Amino acid sequence: MLSKRRLLSALAVAALLPASAVADASTQGEQLFQQHCAKCHGSTGQANTWRGWLFFAKNLSKSSWQNSVSDDEITQAIKQGPGVMPAYADSLSSDEQQNILKFVRTLGN
Ligand code: HEC
Repeated sequence: MLSKRRLLSALAVAALLPASAVADASTQGEQLFQQHCAKCHGSTGQANTWRGWLFFAKNLSKSSWQNSVSDDEITQAIKQGPGVMPAYADSLSSDEQQNILKFVRTLGN
C-alpha cells in the first residue's frame, strides 16, 4: 500500500509537470532575467535598482537603445558582461541566453 508520504510526493510531481510543460521559451527567458539580471537592470529593465544605480547599469527599456543594438550585441553582452556586469557564457546555456535575449526585446515598450 502507498505510504502517505509517497502519495504526497506523487501528487507534488503531478502538480509540477503541467506547469513545466507550459513553461515555454518566453516564460523561461523572463524567469532567468528576473533571477540573474533584474538585481541590476530592474524587473522591467529600467535599471531603477540600488545596484543598477551603483553600477550604472544600462536601461534596457529605452527605445533608443533597443533600436540601435543588434541581437548579436545583446548576446555578446550576456556572454561577456561589459564593464562590471558578470559574464554568463559559462553559467547559462546558449538556449537560455537566447530566451533571455527574447525577453530583453520585450522590455522596449
Ligand atoms: C552586477 C550588475 C549586473 C547584472 C547582474 C547584469 N548586468 Fe547587464 N549591465 C550592467 C552594467 C553596469 C552595464 C553597463 C556596462 C558598461 O557599458 O560599462 C550592463 C550592460 C548590459 C547590456 C548593454 C550592452 C550594450 O551593448 O549596450 C545588456 C544587453 C545587458 N547588460 C544585459 C544583461 C542581462 C541580460 C543580464 C542577465 C543575464 C545582465 N545584464 C546582468 C550590470 C549588470
